[in-house]
Amino acid sequence: MAFTITVNGHARRVDVDGDTPLLWVLRDVLGLAGTKFGCGMALCGACTVHIDGAARRSCVTTIDSIGRSQITTIEAIGATAAGATIQKAWLDEEVVQCGYCQSGQIMSASALLASNPQPSDADIDAAMSGNICRCGTYARIRDAIKRAARTTKAGG
Ligand code: FES
Ligand code: FES
Repeated sequence: MAFTITVNGHARRVDVDGDTPLLWVLRDVLGLAGTKFGCGMALCGACTVHIDGAARRSCVTTIDSIGRSQITTIEAIGATAAGATIQKAWLDEEVVQCGYCQSGQIMSASALLASNPQPSDADIDAAMSGNICRCGTYARIRDAIKRAARTTKAGG
């Protein structure tokens, strides 16, 4: 069945079954491999993308549920203000270890910063608790989100 979805600002036509997970479409049909497969059951956060600006698990989001919603992936998050700020903070804090979980982490963090530019520790915990990191980069992730919030507060 044919669906037209909007990914990173571009309309993309895909021909898949309606119950196909968005993650499969992004990676296998559209070649956007920055979004990762971890658990396939909404338990790890590796597959996080934005749907209309909110962090969503693409492994449990079927293609027929998307409609006209805007999808943003890690490949384009740097074009948003919050995404660019988060990515710079990630580099400044040297967050990444193996990297596998990090596109999902960045997508969750940038959705948080866009909706809540000055998050509290509790806000950060709530937004990031579904993103698992086997390398244990949690402390640096928190530092990077706080750095990004300071940057946002300072206006740049
Ligand atoms: S692959 Fe989607 S939450 Fe783990
Ligand atoms: S950096 Fe290795 S799993 Fe998170």
